[in-house]
Amino acid sequence: MNLDNMEKFELILDHIPGALYVDTEGIVKYLNEQCAKYIGVNLEWALGKDILEVFPETRMMENMYINRPKIVFYHSFGAGISVNVPVFLNGERVGLLEYDVVQASEVLYELSDNYTKFLDEELHSLRREINELRGGKYSIDDILGQSEVIDKLKEDIRSAALSDATVLIYGETGTGKELVAHAIHNMSRRSKNNFVKMNAANLPESLAESELFGYEGGSFTGARKEGMKGKFEQADNGTLFIDEINQMSYAIQPKLLRALQENEIEKIGSDKSISIDARVVATTNQDMRKLVKDGKFRQDLFYRLHVILIIVPPLRQRKEDIPILADDFIKKYSRTVGKTIRYVDDDVYKKLKSYDWPGNVRELQNVIERAIAFSKGGRITAEDVELPGAQKQQDVYDVSSDNPIDAAKKKAEREIIIQVLNECNGNKTKAAGVLKISRPLLYQKMNRLGL
Ligand SMILES: Nc1ncnc2c1ncn2[C@@H]1O[C@H](COP(=O)(O)OP(=O)(O)OP(=O)(O)O)[C@@H](O)[C@H]1O
Ligand SMILES: [Mg+2]
Repeated sequence: MNLDNMEKFELILDHIPGALYVDTEGIVKYLNEQCAKYIGVNLEWALGKDILEVFPETRMMENMYINRPKIVFYHSFGAGISVNVPVFLNGERVGLLEYDVVQASEVLYELSDNYTKFLDEELHSLRREINELRGGKYSIDDILGQSEVIDKLKEDIRSAALSDATVLIYGETGTGKELVAHAIHNMSRRSKNNFVKMNAANLPESLAESELFGYEGGSFTGARKEGMKGKFEQADNGTLFIDEINQMSYAIQPKLLRALQENEIEKIGSDKSISIDARVVATTNQDMRKLVKDGKFRQDLFYRLHVILIIVPPLRQRKEDIPILADDFIKKYSRTVGKTIRYVDDDVYKKLKSYDWPGNVRELQNVIERAIAFSKGGRITAEDVELPGAQKQQDVYDVSSDNPIDAAKKKAEREIIIQVLNECNGNKTKAAGVLKISRPLLYQKMNRLGL
């Protein structure tokens, strides 16, 4: 090898991260500048020394007699990955070469995060496919919790799934009413057929009837030529989920009652009845008896609906479930935003349990989502957990410092944000879109308004 080639050869060697060669006695015969710097020694000094003196954490001596390259994990300078390669000359072992694949922990984390993300995406799309095949979104196993009240809820779901009777699900906002409705459907004999959802609150009276029962072609101006199937018909042999039935307009209530009693419907513009076998599952977040008493809901429809009543407990009545829920949400959200969470401080759970959760599970999800956004270094601390309570007292209820116009503005802003968040099922990206503001601004506003 002439000098020119020799130089080139060294130049190449110098560029291999962490290159280090020892003979079978463990004497350092070669290391490059990069490696010397990385382990923090002087290159000239190190040459000819025992490797254990130069780099005490090394695993090279343990690996001296390997027969093929081996991956080594180091924890000495953060986390890193090296490769040990046995070196042979004329079939005889002469030493061991080491070089680094990953020298910085961040690279390692990035690598594992990317890989985890890849696996999660795969898992997600498989889950989605399975769910689509199953025709519903959630099953009873998606209802997390080990408290007695959750056990009772699951028992109620199982027995409701065995029958065809109308179910009324009652619970505060964000307790999981929709989850329960899906679980009932997916456990019932109807699970292979449609789960059709409609929201009674967003249903203007004028549209309610065609939404529910459909219409014949050309039955009114603006009607589609081919007519339209109503929700009842779409849910034939399946489940019709009527969300927020407490807000159903009074005028439409007798028509719904009739459909429930007769198991048949009449399309608008038709004089024929068609018989329909749709199982109705409805939700309410208000006490229906009170609505009946106040003349806002028809008593006969109320009785017809609450053949089976399922009460979904608020989160404050099952605080022992908070860690299970929190851990699950941490797993899910960190995945979605591509952040790996390695530690959750014990104080986090303590703090979460100290709060009363008026917004229930959905509110817990939001708090966790925010905590993940604010977490640093893969760790969630109690400071990352912001509970609306404290904020509320200062910012929202303490309106005395505001002039009446500012206070009114705040109140209006708060109301519209809550309403849109509810409509978007707590999805802030969607809500920000509807409100026509950026997501960070929505966060700021929510913070300021104690939401
Ligand atoms: N027991 C639970 N385990 C896991 N996730 C839950 C549980 N209960 C609720 N959730 C989650 O909380 C969120 C709110 O649940 P859901 O939409 O079913 O509540 P809701 O009672 O219908 O609320 P609203 O009255 O505001 O419509 C959903 O993301 C749901 O998946
Ligand atoms: Mg709901």
